[in-house]
Amino acid sequence: MNILVTGGAGYVGSVVVESLLDKGYGVVVLDNLQRGHRNAVLPAAELVVADLSDDASLDKVFRSTRFDAVVHMAAETEVALSMTDPARFFQCNVGGGMNLLDAMVRNRVPNLIFSSSAAVYGQPHSVPIGEDAPKTPTNAYGVSKLMFENMLTWYGRAYGLRYVSLRYFNAAGASEFLGEDHGPETHLIPNVLNAAAQQQAWVDVYGTDYPTPDGSCVRDYVHVVDIAQAHVLALEKVEELSGRAYNLGSGTGYSVLQVIAAASKVAGVDILTKTFPRRSGDPAVLTASIDRCEADLGWQPGFTQLEPILESAWRWRTRHPNGYRG
Ligand code: UFG
Repeated sequence: MNILVTGGAGYVGSVVVESLLDKGYGVVVLDNLQRGHRNAVLPAAELVVADLSDDASLDKVFRSTRFDAVVHMAAETEVALSMTDPARFFQCNVGGGMNLLDAMVRNRVPNLIFSSSAAVYGQPHSVPIGEDAPKTPTNAYGVSKLMFENMLTWYGRAYGLRYVSLRYFNAAGASEFLGEDHGPETHLIPNVLNAAAQQQAWVDVYGTDYPTPDGSCVRDYVHVVDIAQAHVLALEKVEELSGRAYNLGSGTGYSVLQVIAAASKVAGVDILTKTFPRRSGDPAVLTASIDRCEADLGWQPGFTQLEPILESAWRWRTRHPNGYRG
């Protein structure tokens, strides 16, 4: 079976590619390398450097290989940037995504697994969040992901596309060879590990006045290898489960201050913090109900505790002090 992975040079994408290769799939990665890294694509996968807006390149890729499915992960993902430059998110995540769907229809590729996000829910009314909770995104990133999910419904009805959407909560951790390296880095865990490695002086803590036990935001950190496994399972069952969406979380929440304390323990160093005002658009608590995913996909996160997740990220970080850049 051949799978096209868009965004396969990115953090989660590269690990999904690794899991697909392990399962014996043939993998082609399509990535514009704007945020992804050439070195993150394992040599057993073919890398095509192209943008989703480039119809000719999409057709060329689809004509060169008979794909059984696409795993669509290419996207703009920085939530804060989506507040100041939403056009970029609609162009890439909606416009680029639609180009991909049209190319799939033209070239008769029947199945798609979509990398969606907990950002589609916005400020939850209650936690843990189930898949049927209201979808009221608070940033353009979340809106763009929800728009693509909605487009899938119509491509399914009209053109027979089969699809599953996977809504990630906070992806974290590393596999043996592949880890997290964004530039610029805005995510909590890589910044905390940068501070532990003395590559930055302190960690910014955005808000300690939330209605949570220690006042900092609570998130559901899910290991990137567990996320990748869910993609493999979703691919195997896409015909049976088409049209459904699943949360991918660990089911447990940890606060920003708990993450920093756990990372300090894992790295064996003190980590300095500075408190800043709340970051715009951050909900106090986001944790996932993962019952549906367990029941339908037979998926369970292998990593349910924060420390082993941080250990894997720290191991990768110490082996790759400059990430993928050298
Ligand atoms: N935070 C800090 N300091 C930092 C970075 C982050 O205090 O230096 C805080 C944030 O305010 C937030 C928490 O740490 O409360 C986690 O922030 P991240 O930026 O690591 O992740 P987000 O929860 O904002 O976003 C992530 C993904 C999104 C996805 C979302 C869904 O990046 O794509 O999870 O839960 F939509």
